[in-house]
Amino acid sequence: MEPVLAPSARSRVIVESHLGGGEHRTLADDVLDGLTRPFKELPPKHFYDARGADLFDQICEQPEYYPTRSERSILATRSAEIVAMTGAAELVELGSGTAAKTRLLLAAMHEAGTLDRYVPIDVTEGMVRASAHALVEEFDGLRVHGIVGDFERHLDRVPPPVAGRPRIVAFLGGTLGNFTPGSRRRFLRSLSALLGEDGYLLLGTDLVKDVATLEAAYDDAAGVTAEFNRNVLHVLNRELDADFVPTSFDHVAFFDRDREWIEMRLRAQRPQRVHVRKLDLQLTFAAGEELRTEISAKFTRERIEGDLAAAGMVLEDRLLDADGLFALNLARKPN
Ligand code: AVJ
Repeated sequence: MEPVLAPSARSRVIVESHLGGGEHRTLADDVLDGLTRPFKELPPKHFYDARGADLFDQICEQPEYYPTRSERSILATRSAEIVAMTGAAELVELGSGTAAKTRLLLAAMHEAGTLDRYVPIDVTEGMVRASAHALVEEFDGLRVHGIVGDFERHLDRVPPPVAGRPRIVAFLGGTLGNFTPGSRRRFLRSLSALLGEDGYLLLGTDLVKDVATLEAAYDDAAGVTAEFNRNVLHVLNRELDADFVPTSFDHVAFFDRDREWIEMRLRAQRPQRVHVRKLDLQLTFAAGEELRTEISAKFTRERIEGDLAAAGMVLEDRLLDADGLFALNLARKPN
């Protein structure tokens, strides 16, 4: 239910939707491309249907999963500093979700007297609308230009930066780690194009650390991450009329030290055949065969500096939480 708003608040919200059913196509293409290879693989974005989003929220509350808590603690203690350093009037946020962490930044901008506009981009229309309406009520004078879309496909819908109104483009949570190294640099380049002359990129990155801490974060004792991992099979069953038996796959998560990333996989407990009816596709899994469902890269300072440089940006500042687990990187285009 959308709240009833005063006309003045309502007129400060624009929400544009760019999802027109092409999403089914993306899933179908990813299945045809990724599940017909000798080493099967699916991109992680298909985890997030309503159940997957809910499971992810539960992951964030597990004691082993530190990234969300760590990043929030950095924002809670350093937002004022970030706003002072950037002079930001505008916040563009990719994968905004419930905008829980965003509030900390918006509040600091409000406090500094610079807050003008919030531009959230998310695939879930309900989330964009709900957070837009809540935020214009919360921060007087704030305008929200919401974009319902996929940040990998719809960045061109972000309104251009306005001279003299510096923006922060925030990509939080460590989701940059989901990109493979080459596509990561390409994606960073597309983000740098959104910054304008005086904008900053605020980028959350999980850090390389001891293997036990990393692996526990992706294999919590309560089994929430395991269920989240298997959720992609439920998505395929529903969206593509497939007949995966999710319980016949084990959750696997390990840190690849050479590549410095966590990999999640689903391992077939026994040989199985799967029919993906909508694609008229027959798949077979050998006993023990694994399907890669996610990579989540971890970053050293050198690595993120190199990636930013390759995308035409420089690392201006790097803020860590008190335990040194997670980093917020502030980058800009050199002038
Ligand atoms: C949402 C991509 C940042 O990689 O840590 C959490 C997703 N996967 N547990 C991450 C995730 C398994 C998460 N990101």
